[in-house]
Amino acid sequence: MAYYEINGGRPLEGQVTISGAKNAALAIIPATILAGEPCVIENLPMIEDVHVLAEILRLMGASVDLNDNGCMRIDPTTITEFEVTFDMVSQLRASYYLLGAMLGRYGHAALALPGGCSIGPRPIDFHIKGMRALGAEVVTRNGIVYADAKALRGADIYLDMVSVGATINIMLAACRADGTTVIANAAKEPHVVDVANFLNMMGASIKGAGTDVIRIRGRKQLHGCSYAIIPDQIEAGTFMIAAAATRGSVVINNIIPTHLEAISAKLMESGVRVTEGDDGSDFFMHVDASCRPRAINIKTLPYPGFPTDLQQPMTAFLATAQGNSFIVENIFEDRYNHVPELVRMGAKITVTGRTAMIEGVEKLYGATITATDLRAGAALIVAALAAEGESKVRNIHYIDRGYEHLEQKMRALGADIVRIGR
Ligand code: UD1
Repeated sequence: MAYYEINGGRPLEGQVTISGAKNAALAIIPATILAGEPCVIENLPMIEDVHVLAEILRLMGASVDLNDNGCMRIDPTTITEFEVTFDMVSQLRASYYLLGAMLGRYGHAALALPGGCSIGPRPIDFHIKGMRALGAEVVTRNGIVYADAKALRGADIYLDMVSVGATINIMLAACRADGTTVIANAAKEPHVVDVANFLNMMGASIKGAGTDVIRIRGRKQLHGCSYAIIPDQIEAGTFMIAAAATRGSVVINNIIPTHLEAISAKLMESGVRVTEGDDGSDFFMHVDASCRPRAINIKTLPYPGFPTDLQQPMTAFLATAQGNSFIVENIFEDRYNHVPELVRMGAKITVTGRTAMIEGVEKLYGATITATDLRAGAALIVAALAAEGESKVRNIHYIDRGYEHLEQKMRALGADIVRIGR
């Protein structure tokens, strides 16, 4: 099994360019099914989850060409397989988007229940509730969700909890429903807006994405289009946090500053200098940290709050803050699997329920540490880059799922990181 060997303690310095957004990509790729015509998606991150999704579409019969520059052409007209129950599907959380896309396009979907990172229970009951509200019959048998609808019809749908996945999935199906769908208490994450923009480029009529009420007027037909996805908020945030944790100075290019406000605010509160800029063609963020941060408190919240996906890297950063920091994880029940690994590196962190108390220590020390999920992996990379001495980070297949060329980007910033094995 491949692992990273990292010699920590070197400040990250230089410039890094952010790739396309993973979570937008994972929704937009299945959304092409709705077009009924070929689509071209640009600025895709070259990450494992994108390759897996491309393979799933190929197994369904679609023609998918992906080049090394992150440009994918998908022709969904040749899809003949509507029972999407192979192993690959259950490995990928985002495969749930096939449900909304297939239901919208074909009126039928059979989908293996999605897997993904293990960060506590991750039901899809809101997705199912949404599909039922649109008129589908949905049953789950032997780990497979079957959804059928003679005709989808628009509906008013209130989400009991803000859910990114359910918001997007309902948007996908509702694009092809008869009449208007209103999603209340919708998620406002940047990738929700990006998916809505993509669907509108295909001829859909979606208004209000980015607010908590989204209106979708169903269309009989959509068409193919060409679309470039937004930069990844979470990758950008990870580099911001890594720069701060290593007391470095990094310019992060290809970002959308408003997507990073919660992260900038928290880093600045801890004493890190964060400045936004515009070089005429692109926005960038400069993160500059030279000394130990102050302790701060963080609560994860739906966008525009502090993203749960950066809670884990932030824990690694705050492990060496001056004073006690408190983190409250409000989105997922069990998202502290990185903590025992940080403790092995010398961190002092106690988790009680959804709260982690971090007593800042002067330094972390290199250790052999194991990633348990994607963002836990990112947290361990941040910790290992900042720590004194050598670390081995194991289970890096999780990190490959969501970060493009991580070691190359880190090495370009001066990190001593080597991938060992395959
Ligand atoms: C997406 C992101 C993930 C991010 C998360 C929160 C993708 C592929 N993944 O995950 O990176 O961490 O948003 O920003 O985009 N819930 C239910 N029932 C449901 C759906 C969700 O109870 O049917 C709960 C979840 O267990 C969780 C909360 O709602 O506690 C929010 O989950 P949700 O926003 O749906 O996350 P995901 O779409 O799984």
